[in-house]
Amino acid sequence: MTEKDFLPFKYISKKNTGKVNWKSPSNIALIKYWGKKENQIPANPSISFTLDTCVTETTISYQKLDAGSSKFSFELFFEGKSKEDFKPKIETFFKRIEVYLPFLREYHLKIETSNSFPHSSGIASSASGMSALALCLMSMERTFVREMDNDFFIKKASFLARLGSGSACRSIEGPLVQWGKHSNIEGSSNLYGIRYPYNIHEIFQNFQDTILLVDEGQKQVSSSVGHDLMHGHPFAGQRFAQAHTHLSEFRSILAEGKLKEFIRIVESEALTLHAMMMTSHPYFILMKPNTLEIINRIWSFREASRSNVCFTLDAGANVHVLYPEKERETVYEFIQAELLHFCENGKHICDRTESGAKDMFKNTDT
Ligand code: PMV
Repeated sequence: MTEKDFLPFKYISKKNTGKVNWKSPSNIALIKYWGKKENQIPANPSISFTLDTCVTETTISYQKLDAGSSKFSFELFFEGKSKEDFKPKIETFFKRIEVYLPFLREYHLKIETSNSFPHSSGIASSASGMSALALCLMSMERTFVREMDNDFFIKKASFLARLGSGSACRSIEGPLVQWGKHSNIEGSSNLYGIRYPYNIHEIFQNFQDTILLVDEGQKQVSSSVGHDLMHGHPFAGQRFAQAHTHLSEFRSILAEGKLKEFIRIVESEALTLHAMMMTSHPYFILMKPNTLEIINRIWSFREASRSNVCFTLDAGANVHVLYPEKERETVYEFIQAELLHFCENGKHICDRTESGAKDMFKNTDT
């Protein structure tokens, strides 16, 4: 599909008022997206686990305006309170997607949103937030047309979410979503995420992700600045090629449940992401001393116990501890005994993989 396929068909009728409500998950990349071209096109393909506990819930109540407006008309409430400072980001998003959803200036939107995880936890809410918003807008559009099949609905929601925040396009479906054109992955696209189309071994079902909140402060360097620094980065070419190779290797790893190989790639991806940050111009470091303490403890525990626990990192200091469900008790005991004191006030979130966003009015999954 191309961008043109997401331009709207004819609207048959536009409701005067209505309400839509979606709950969207966060995701954690196993093979990382870092670096982008214009219009949120990724410089390399990526794949992520869709999470269950870390979610954003968004409701939009819409009302048709008497006359179309030259400005976008919307109010924004975050956890019950009006949030003026979030509005510019939404405004920019609306401008980018307007051509695909031309009804946007014809409605007043009351957007109410909340996260299941603490706002200042260092967990990015842009993936779940933009995904929930895109799904709500698609639920609106679906009522204006005669028919929209579910596959198109999901693809367009992912396409729109991508324009809000790249990784958000991987927060529609689950449990494993791939985004970015890859020559060996049928149906892969730079424009939207797809549910991973090949066999996934049962060991990856309900895969556990305990998120250790190492640093709750604001990041010193935002993701968008980090992505930008991949332009002209001395190792960019090799890094993008490596992501393609890792994705090819993932096919049999996922199908056959090869955990040792899974660990090798996932940890290498996390460290490569941070290596790219450390070798950018200007260079920067988002890991903290406790991030490294945790990584070393995980390696020692794995060596001593022959466990299949491993870690990944997003663009921050927090550590995602990944392990199969059948190791849940032993690994969680280890986390409690040896890792939680490296977190701010012992804070952590026990999450796991899940199947994707939920339409809260219909009570259905994507
Ligand atoms: O979606 P963005 O622009 O916030 O970038 C996310 C980048 C990483 O989280 C570091 C990697 C990824 O693939 O999610």
